[in-house]
Amino acid sequence: MENIKTIGVLTSGGDAPGMNPCIRAVVRTALDKKLNVLGIYGGYEGLLNGSFRPLGARDVGGILQRGGTILQTARSNNFQTIPGRMKALREMNSAGVDALVVIGGDGSLRGALSLMQEGFPVVGIPASIDNDIYGTDMCIGVDTALNTIVDAIDKLRDTATSHNRAFLIETMGRKNGYLAQHAGIVSGAEMVLIPEIPVEIESVIKAVENAYIRGKTHCIIVVAEGFEPNTTVIAERIAAMKIGFDTRVTILGHIQRGGKPTAFDRMLATRYGAHATRLLVEGKTGIMTALQGREINPISLEEATSNKKALSEEYFNLATMLAR
Ligand code: F6P
Repeated sequence: MENIKTIGVLTSGGDAPGMNPCIRAVVRTALDKKLNVLGIYGGYEGLLNGSFRPLGARDVGGILQRGGTILQTARSNNFQTIPGRMKALREMNSAGVDALVVIGGDGSLRGALSLMQEGFPVVGIPASIDNDIYGTDMCIGVDTALNTIVDAIDKLRDTATSHNRAFLIETMGRKNGYLAQHAGIVSGAEMVLIPEIPVEIESVIKAVENAYIRGKTHCIIVVAEGFEPNTTVIAERIAAMKIGFDTRVTILGHIQRGGKPTAFDRMLATRYGAHATRLLVEGKTGIMTALQGREINPISLEEATSNKKALSEEYFNLATMLAR
């Protein structure tokens, strides 16, 4: 787009490891294209409050390896209202922001779509440890979160084996079981419980009992936070059956969102950031960068936000088949 002189960049929703390398790539690609960059602090809340600050090459130095987001993030209810969005548009107008890069998850990308529908040029970048965005194989932060989970499960298995215990380990992911499913496979869990595939609690108890009978010294069950009934209820039911294993619960929680991004996440974030900025310069809008295979392709924000990402049944079957 000929008339773009200044772009804004914000991070929104839950933070994800890799947001910082993405910001760095946006800023430095924009500088390479002779554009100015304004960092928007505090997500959409910062957008409608006019919390803008110029970002130069040095401002994004030394952040590649840092988790979290230097721009900070928020979940903004105000931005979901029409007056809130109008205020955001006025703030951008008076600060001279011509186009925007939004780095965030599902809700953040829907926010980006609403700006596009008001005629404002915007490109979205999927960043969420949940990996629940339709149209892209991977979001920023997923690989790092997975490695954190797997590291925790490896450690929990050590103590589980020493004590002959069943461990229920809860992962994040809202209504999406991606993290639990993938972590379960690569850490050799005895069972994975995800919201997409209902399982009767009796079957869970049976699986724990079978693991004990087969002579296992531990039983690792990875439970996605969206699974029902919740982790504590399942643990109580297992404990009440006095199967042989003592039972413990570990809720991994926000530790999954922190930590330095893996090489994979740094590379993905860097490619997304550079790609998104180039798209804006070419006058493309209403688009999200998506990893499809090894390629980064643009897909419409409309498509990305109006479809539900499905989990692969193949992975579920693999997890079940290998848990012997
Ligand atoms: O969307 C990312 C995520 O970490 C989810 O997995 C989790 O359900 C939620 O955010 C937690 O949100 P908050 O950080 O606001 O407690």
